[in-house]
This record gives sequence, structure tokens and C-alpha cells, in this order.
Amino acid sequence: MAAAQDQECVLDPRTFNRFAQLVYARCGIVLTEKKEALVQARVGKRMRQLGMKDFADYFRLVEADANGDETVHLLDVISTNVTSFYREARHFEVLTELLRKWEQAGQTTFRIWCAAASTGEEPYTIAFTVRDALHNGTDARILATDISTRVLGRARAAVYTARDLEKVPRPVVNKYFQRQHSADANGGPETYSVVPEVRNMITFARLNLATPPFPMRGPFDVVFCRNVMIYFDDAIRTRLLADCYRLLRPGGYLMVGHAESLTGILSEFKSVEPAVYIKK
Ligand SMILES: C[S@@+](CC[C@H](N)C(=O)[O-])C[C@H]1O[C@@H](n2cnc3c(N)ncnc32)[C@H](O)[C@@H]1O
Repeated sequence: MAAAQDQECVLDPRTFNRFAQLVYARCGIVLTEKKEALVQARVGKRMRQLGMKDFADYFRLVEADANGDETVHLLDVISTNVTSFYREARHFEVLTELLRKWEQAGQTTFRIWCAAASTGEEPYTIAFTVRDALHNGTDARILATDISTRVLGRARAAVYTARDLEKVPRPVVNKYFQRQHSADANGGPETYSVVPEVRNMITFARLNLATPPFPMRGPFDVVFCRNVMIYFDDAIRTRLLADCYRLLRPGGYLMVGHAESLTGILSEFKSVEPAVYIKK
């Protein structure tokens, strides 16, 4: 009986290909055959939560999912939302230098887009950097987008554990986080919430980077598009880079993940240093 149940949960190559095509069409994420075992394991876990045993049935559920919720679940299990405060910290040094230079030159309005914001650590790090670099009262706003409504919910909640804050410098913790009283009488993890002044600088919105046109008009001073292009093929990357270019003002900057060099991809950006590009 157990063996029969296991057999029901096997993902055959044909169904895997149908998943791969659907994921590419909806999210631009490329699932190569190397990912078959990973999809079987992770999607199988999601199916168990739903009490389903047949991959073809689950495929039909996602295919018919008009409002996108199950697509988000599928995406969440096959992609990673890994992120952290001050990840690839050099970008925040560059951002500080740019903001100070632009403010000294008389700029008073600053717009930044964080294109794959995940659970919020990246846009909040941008916001801390902006507040520390610029004078009080400057008009600075951040647009933070992601395809996953689940991670956006966590980003909006802005509540993190002490462990999440490990790489955050102590003065930043003291200035921009409030310790929360644990609701868990058994001593659950200590949690910290981002202060309202920082949260109010950010607008969170769902946006699928693989399906332009995008609703925003820009222009942005800086775009952070980090650790998301790795999931896309060159066609989607090229189109996304063209959109980033269009949405930036001349002299604006693009930050990409350090594993995501634009070498070999058609783009008008000029390299400034590793993972930092300028729109000339
Ligand atoms: C590895 S995380 C990177 C988070 C952050 N940018 C960083 O560098 O720490 C990738 C994020 O991209 C999001 N993502 C994946 N495909 C996407 C798409 N087509 N459109 C928008 N976001 C997408 C995922 O939901 C996830 O939150």
C-alpha cells in the first residue's frame, strides 16, 4: 500500500515539462531538467499540505488558478526568497556616496525601486541607508515590488527576529527597530519591528518582472534588481534590463546581484564597478 502511494507521487517527465512551461509563461523562471528532483520534492510537499497525491491534478489546479494564489505558492516552493539585511554590503556604501553627492549638488527628491524585495530586508536596508545619508526632511521614497504576495505580506509586517538582525550594525538596530513584547508566554523568539518613520518611506506592491508593461512611470535615481535575474533566461533578462534602463533617469544607477554580471547580455548600461551600472 505504501509503495502504491509513493508511486502516485512520482513526477513523470511529461508533467514536469508542463510545469516548466507554465512556470516560464507565468513567472519567467526557467526550470531545466536538472530541477526535476527539486520540483518533485518541493511541489510534493505542497501537494501533501493540500491532501493531493497526483502531480497532474495539482498541475490542473495551478493551471485553472485564475487569481494567481496557487501560482504564488508554486513559485514560493520552487524559487528561493533568501535575503538578508545588508546583503552584498558594498551596494549600500555606493548608495551612500551617490545620495550625498546628489544632495550636495542640490537634488531634493529621491526615488528608488527595489525590484525583487522578498521579505523586506533589502528595501528596509535601502531606507536605513537613505535616512543616514541624507538630511532630515528630504523627499525620499522607495518602491518595493515582488511577485509573491506571501513575502510581501511579511515585508509589510516588518517584524524580524534577533537572528535576522545579526548583520545589522548596533546603532542601526537602536535607531530603526523597536523591540516587541513577546506574545508567546513560553518565551518564543524575541522580535523587533521597523519603526514607522522608515516603514512609511516604502510602498510595497506586487509586480511580475516577467510580464511587462509595468505600471510605474519613474524616473528612478537607483534601481536594485538583485538576485532575481538568475532565474530568467536571456530573453527575459534583456527585456527587463531595457525596462530598468527606461525607468532610470540619465545618470541613474542599477545594482544587480554579484553573481549576475550583465556581460554578454544586450544592454545599454555602462559598468561602474562589479554589480554596479550607470545609465549614461
Ligand atoms: C533570492 S530572492 C532575492 C531578494 C533580494 N533582492 C536580495 O537580493 O536579497 C528572489 C526574489 O525574487 C522574487 N521573484 C521571482 N520571480 C519573480 C518575478 N517574475 N517577478 C518578481 N519577483 C520575482 C521571489 O519571489 C523572491 O522574493
